Amino acid sequence: MTKMKKATLIIKNIGQLITMAGPAPRTGAQMSDLGLIENGGIAVSGEEILFVGESEKIEGQAELAEGCTVIDAKGMVVTPGFIDPHTHPVFSKTREKEFEMRIQGKTYMEIAESGGGIRSSVRDLRETDFATLKEKTKERLDRFLSYGVTTIEAKSGYGLSLESELKQLEVINELNKTHILDLIPTFLGAHEVPDEYRSDREAYINIIINEMIPAVTKNNLAEFSDIFTEEGVFTIAESKKIQQTAKDAGLKLKFHADELQSTGGGELAAELGSVSADHLVYISDDGIEAMAKSKTVAVLLPGTTFSLSGKQYAPARKMIDEGVIVALSTDCNPGSSCSESLPIIISLAALQLKMTAAEAITAVTVNAAAAVDRIGKIGQLVEGMQADITIWDMGDYRELPYHYGVNLVSQVVKKGKLAISN
Ligand code: NIG
Ligand code: FE
Repeated sequence: MTKMKKATLIIKNIGQLITMAGPAPRTGAQMSDLGLIENGGIAVSGEEILFVGESEKIEGQAELAEGCTVIDAKGMVVTPGFIDPHTHPVFSKTREKEFEMRIQGKTYMEIAESGGGIRSSVRDLRETDFATLKEKTKERLDRFLSYGVTTIEAKSGYGLSLESELKQLEVINELNKTHILDLIPTFLGAHEVPDEYRSDREAYINIIINEMIPAVTKNNLAEFSDIFTEEGVFTIAESKKIQQTAKDAGLKLKFHADELQSTGGGELAAELGSVSADHLVYISDDGIEAMAKSKTVAVLLPGTTFSLSGKQYAPARKMIDEGVIVALSTDCNPGSSCSESLPIIISLAALQLKMTAAEAITAVTVNAAAAVDRIGKIGQLVEGMQADITIWDMGDYRELPYHYGVNLVSQVVKKGKLAISN
């Protein structure tokens, strides 16, 4: 602890301070360890955490700067600000009609094949001007923040032309500068084959490889490259070609893998050293073994299975038992999962993936940090790390999955500043 730096914000009287200090990321039984301190306190200096420990020790440890914000947590629960490692927040129109069609018996793939789904969002996005798109995305970021989320990964993938993919990535990059939330941009040009290339998919793949990836890297618009590897979307061979090109160009990798059928996407992600593979409802046993070995993070999206009325959820227990790094996310998008709430995802993780509250909290903090390659920076409340902190109006963290469908956020501190105070 540095005596030199003065505290600009302190939080005292924290009933349960969940620090997540310790192994990063966490696997197996480590996922149950929250690094919990009872009657805890935190001191922050500027954007960084200065001290974490017992409440009564903070004032002795850190000299308070003039005008220091003092928050009395009154026995509440404090966690690292949540990280959502898989979102598609840049879109214009919502698709509630498709939701209703699914309720009436159509499947997600039937709707997609008849021209709806991702392609309808593509037509819509291409017609939407930059300012409108930015404003609509901003509203979604505000909603994420209100649910205790302080960082999101955000994908393109509704442009599917050079111009419109860059437009989406520019929205993400601009909002990262102007909005208090941190956004991590991912290029998802291989989200679907757009209408105009349905009879010549090879030509579209060549545009991704020869035009989009070079433009994205040249302008430094994305950190990751993602792809929808799925029966009827991109094959394993196509995925390998596109993602190898992205990797060679300096992008880190992510995959939408084994979401609706088992295609070997999990195995391919592991083979290419992907940072994460996401969905994984139908991952094979070999895929699980390969991901555990390669330390590819499994980002599970139970909100998508829920919103698609799926009968089968991802095999979370098996993955945890086999030593896969498991994270959780909303998959926030206009089609398969329209929600900005990680707390509801934690409830679904408990009920459908059979994860405990502690495992689910691990999955949206330190393990979600691994899914966006930010270990050591966010996702843990440890001296020197970014001061992203959520205060929850509850006395026991296990209330999080149990008390579902309501917002229990009391306050959110982002980069050391009070961003939400309810
Ligand atoms: O993660 N699976 C592919 N992409 C999104 C859905 C996008 C959409 O339907 O608009 C997903 O579920
Ligand atoms: Fe997705």
